[in-house]
Amino acid sequence: MKIDFTNVNLENLDNYEKKAMKAFDSLMKKDGLGNDFLGWIDRPSDYDKEEFERIKKAGQRIRESSDVLVSIGIGGSYLGIKAVDVALDNYFDSDRSLKLIYAGHQLSGQYLKELLAYLKDKDYSLNVISKSGTTTEPAIAFRFLKEALEEKYGKKEAKKRIFATTDRKKGALKDLADAKGYETFVVPDDIGGRFSVISAVGLLPLAAAGVDIDEFMAGFKQGQETYTKNSFDNPAIKYAAVRNMLYENGKDIEVLVNYEPKLRYIAEWWKQLFAESEGKDGKGIFPVSVNNTTDLHSLGQMIQDGKRNIFESVIEIEENDKDITIKEDPDNLDGLNYLAGKTMSFVNKQAMEGTTIAHVGGGVPNIRIKIEKVDAKSLSELFYFFEIAVGVSGYMLGVNPFNQPGVEEYKKQMFKLLGKPGY
Ligand code: PA5
Repeated sequence: MKIDFTNVNLENLDNYEKKAMKAFDSLMKKDGLGNDFLGWIDRPSDYDKEEFERIKKAGQRIRESSDVLVSIGIGGSYLGIKAVDVALDNYFDSDRSLKLIYAGHQLSGQYLKELLAYLKDKDYSLNVISKSGTTTEPAIAFRFLKEALEEKYGKKEAKKRIFATTDRKKGALKDLADAKGYETFVVPDDIGGRFSVISAVGLLPLAAAGVDIDEFMAGFKQGQETYTKNSFDNPAIKYAAVRNMLYENGKDIEVLVNYEPKLRYIAEWWKQLFAESEGKDGKGIFPVSVNNTTDLHSLGQMIQDGKRNIFESVIEIEENDKDITIKEDPDNLDGLNYLAGKTMSFVNKQAMEGTTIAHVGGGVPNIRIKIEKVDAKSLSELFYFFEIAVGVSGYMLGVNPFNQPGVEEYKKQMFKLLGKPGY
């Protein structure tokens, strides 16, 4: 992975170096705010190998017994899984023997009703994922899905098809799993939800889907080796410093841009990571994302011409898995023969370069994040890069990047309206 700041004015970046290095030092020494949630930093080289093997075995068992695994979770217990799942699968005909389906990431009754109907003639298993074990959305979805599974297979067989990923000791889900005898996996105490894709949260469903989780861990390890280097040349530190410099210059919206639709959920994961980590105490860069070239025909107008408070971070894929070449057409009625012999990757790249020139010219600083290709290893390295960056960036901003107190507010109001005891 490489990061390119050519299209950002770095004249004043020196003023941010000291602050960035101090923030990084605090992150590495684990003496800053939220330091009890930094387990993800060492996790790539220090994880429970026994549980890792158990995850692989459970994944294989799920694949052998099921066509579908319903992954039930929200926020950090959902987005990382979906991001990798979508990025690594084919657009149309999947060559996987098991399909991942998601539930518990919203409260739509229609979604649940249709999901239950869809599952009726499928062989399926459930992975209910909640670090706290008390989150309403997955808890409700699990209640419906568990009932349907037990009805279909009987309680004894259903028990073998339910996997719970939750806290080691506490929470309603842990109690329920113990009472019912489900196989459980652990979300470590010192890893917050949005950093948890490296744990059983991400590993079990991804392993079940056939993703190579050894490669996935290898990418995290590569990330640890690269982005924990104590140098201002460390791209994660520099990215954090540049973001803070831009923020202080009035750029309070960051747009994560991709030109490959399968990276869409990588951006959703990134939005959670940065929004929950930085958006507090009246501060923070608002993270949004666009999927180009689709969104060049909608949000592109705003980015080019709207209020000048935006900067972009563009993910470029250097090596595409599949490509297709445009052919010569003897009639040329569509006027496209000037593209004959060019690949779609080439055309897409020119769209990216052209857009960069246009946006930079329009006053939108542009950071380029280059990943070699889209595979399990490069995605986890990218995750780790962003995780270190958000820690440094949050400390530079003066917030605790590892809590999310604001997420509780809507819950209180919703519980009051729903009549939950104690509210
Ligand atoms: O990052 C976070 O901690 C949150 O967004 C959680 O991931 C989300 O609320 C889900 O929580 P839980 O896994 O406890 O159900």
